[in-house]
Amino acid sequence: MADRKRPSFPLALIGFALLAVLALWAGDAATSWAQSATYPQTTLEPRSEVARAIDDVLDGIVLWVIIIFVVVQAALVVTVARFRHRPGGAPARHMHGNTTLEIAWTLAPAIILAFIAVPTVKVIFSNAKPTKGDVSIRAVGHQWWWEFQYTGKGVLTANELHVPVGKTVSLELESIDVIHSFWVPAFAGKKDLIPGRTNHLWFTPEVTGTFPGQCAEFCGASHANMYFKVVVQTQEEFDAWLAQQKAPVAPPDSTTLAARGLALYQKSQCVACHMIDGVSYGVIGPNLGKMSTRTTIASGMFPNDDEHLTAWIRNAPALKPGSLMTKQDMSDEDAAALVAYLRTRR
Ligand code: CUA
Repeated sequence: MADRKRPSFPLALIGFALLAVLALWAGDAATSWAQSATYPQTTLEPRSEVARAIDDVLDGIVLWVIIIFVVVQAALVVTVARFRHRPGGAPARHMHGNTTLEIAWTLAPAIILAFIAVPTVKVIFSNAKPTKGDVSIRAVGHQWWWEFQYTGKGVLTANELHVPVGKTVSLELESIDVIHSFWVPAFAGKKDLIPGRTNHLWFTPEVTGTFPGQCAEFCGASHANMYFKVVVQTQEEFDAWLAQQKAPVAPPDSTTLAARGLALYQKSQCVACHMIDGVSYGVIGPNLGKMSTRTTIASGMFPNDDEHLTAWIRNAPALKPGSLMTKQDMSDEDAAALVAYLRTRR
């Protein structure tokens, strides 16, 4: 047995060094990826008090993990070096039980866990405290899009949440069908939207900009296509946006393509699902009253341009698996007229 080939001590050291280099490289790659977008969909660049508190808990845990990793690996390397087999060496001495060691390795993890648990529980409770927001919004999850109702403001929109900077946004989270989860990594942790109950979430955005959000609970075929945006604006920009959302839209001139689009809209299936104030009152799909003020369609999947809107109207399920909006058989002219009408909705 004495001449069996074993990995030598320097080989183990090289392996350990390689592992460390790999870990450093992975960390560096993740950081440069996160910095490649202005506000990437990452929890590592918090832009609200709530997200910052969560990120601090994570940083604390990562620090403990690094300390534990270094101590354990160092102990491992020392043990391997000290007790390795030497040619002609004495056989290993067996030993059983060491009270001091056993107390130490029971107490140390318990103390470390306490250091992790206290800040974690503190943050969970402080973030769960219902806060009376400066802006109250009802967020309703649908398969597979987001409805945003501005409480007391008479504004109803979809998939693009506008909020003022520096003000506390208080959300009531509800669902019309299955469980969804509201998640804007820069602002807050995930919180579920559950049918039949109301959950609360609040955050105070610190900077202006556009921030990506995503449904974070598997909710069916297009769960992965349930994006949204949070547009953080100055108070003046936000007030102007609210005013624009409420401003009435004049019906199109009777000779225009848009007027033909309106006539088509009124006698099509569109009216059963969509709302346009004074025109149709469906509540299944997104409100289209000001749909051309939005930058995307289909819950953030496509830019809101004529090409994508036309393709969407004609065959939504081909673009978004499971879409409740059915395929429409219509001529190029009819599709163009509908798009022209929707473009007046701004
Ligand atoms: Cu909604 Cu996943």
